[in-house]
Amino acid sequence: MGVVNVSGEIPGPRSKAILARKERAVCDPLDIHVPAVIDRALGATFTDVDGNTFLDLSGGLGCHLVGYSHPKVVEAVRAQAERFSHTDFSVIPYEIYVELAERLVRSVGGGDRKVAFFNAGAEAVENAVKFAKAATGRQALICFEGAFHGRTLLTMSLTSRHKPYKTGFGPFAPEVYRFPYPYPYRSADGEGAGRRALEALERGFTTVVDPSTVAAAIVEPVQGEGGFVVPTPEFLSGLAEICARHGILTIADEIQTGCGRTGAFLASEHFDFEPDVVVLAKALAGGYPLAAVAARPEIMDAPGPSSIGGTYVGNPVACAAANAVLQVIEEEGLVERAEVVGKAIRSRWEGLASQVEEIGEVRGLGAMIGVEFVKDRGTREPNGEYLSALMHGAMHRGVVTVSCGAYHNVLRHLVPLVISDAELDEALDVLSEVALESRGKAGPVEESSEGD
Ligand SMILES: Cc1ncc(COP(=O)(O)O)c(C=O)c1O
Repeated sequence: MGVVNVSGEIPGPRSKAILARKERAVCDPLDIHVPAVIDRALGATFTDVDGNTFLDLSGGLGCHLVGYSHPKVVEAVRAQAERFSHTDFSVIPYEIYVELAERLVRSVGGGDRKVAFFNAGAEAVENAVKFAKAATGRQALICFEGAFHGRTLLTMSLTSRHKPYKTGFGPFAPEVYRFPYPYPYRSADGEGAGRRALEALERGFTTVVDPSTVAAAIVEPVQGEGGFVVPTPEFLSGLAEICARHGILTIADEIQTGCGRTGAFLASEHFDFEPDVVVLAKALAGGYPLAAVAARPEIMDAPGPSSIGGTYVGNPVACAAANAVLQVIEEEGLVERAEVVGKAIRSRWEGLASQVEEIGEVRGLGAMIGVEFVKDRGTREPNGEYLSALMHGAMHRGVVTVSCGAYHNVLRHLVPLVISDAELDEALDVLSEVALESRGKAGPVEESSEGD
């Protein structure tokens, strides 16, 4: 007997009633991907208000690396909420912020680093850029095709895809220059894509932007929303070398890749890439709003007094959650577990590839595995319709997934790493069944099924 238990229609009657109220009271752009209103959750499962239990491979869009409601996180949050919930760290400081900063410095490689906390990924990216501008005295930024960095004005400008993130929201922030990111599966020269991207950047320093005006290059070590795209091995170290030559700082946006998801605390570690600035969020506090920027002191101390901050930044309850999350990651060996989970996911999809022609590529690092679907393996024409049918079918059988990619055709696994082997098998069994049944079928491509 598995843990999934879905009886009847999704949404069930209670979910349906709440979603009808949502339609009236909540703005439409916040559209819903899984029409099952959650009641409670634990580990990799959640139960909706109609009593259906699902396995969730989207894990709060990557936040629940240690699982929903991990007892140690719940206890840390409860204890902190009882002591005090908020002061504004710049008015009345608290030790738990400092403790988390010390812990994070150790996690991101130790040595000479300092940290600042923010509420969300986008806010942390904004601030990483402020640190970089202050440290270099420069204004321009480099970013990459396929990137996702957030939804605020600057981070939306750094984000690549127009629809649904940018259309209608211009003008965008100035002095943002975008260059190719290696996407071997969709590049004419495959594994040569990294070298080509580096050449484009070098050429761009003559034809696009004066490198002496560039403060930072921001990059995802593995693209998340862009399609779980893993760059070729030389790209990130090459980028770091070029940037160093021109006095440009590198910012690694590890918001989706960080905290162990890829089998290393930072995905950058896989590439011999030591970014000047690291940005973390998502899994860091297990779903409590917290994000971090870490860099050497000369970068972190460069902005003037009170130029960095915010009312809620480094909220004590979120810091307590993050301290517990980092402790759980260590105690439960979740960085190592990422490899085991990733291997199981990868081998299942690779095994299916002989029967499911729509599987174009299975790729990723650690547990950050993406499956790209195509209409034809020769032409590699994207097949978002097939993925949509697959996700829809799986959801109705109790397995929740999310997609990504410019063409809405990549299935991404953001599995809580505390998932048991039996639960993972159960989820993959459902996905396999639906993948086989969906052959030749097509659902509508839902842009809203992606999230970020
Ligand atoms: C790589 C990356 N950067 C930035 C963000 C933005 O983070 P947030 O949604 O917390 O603002 C996301 C969110 O998905 C992300 O995946």
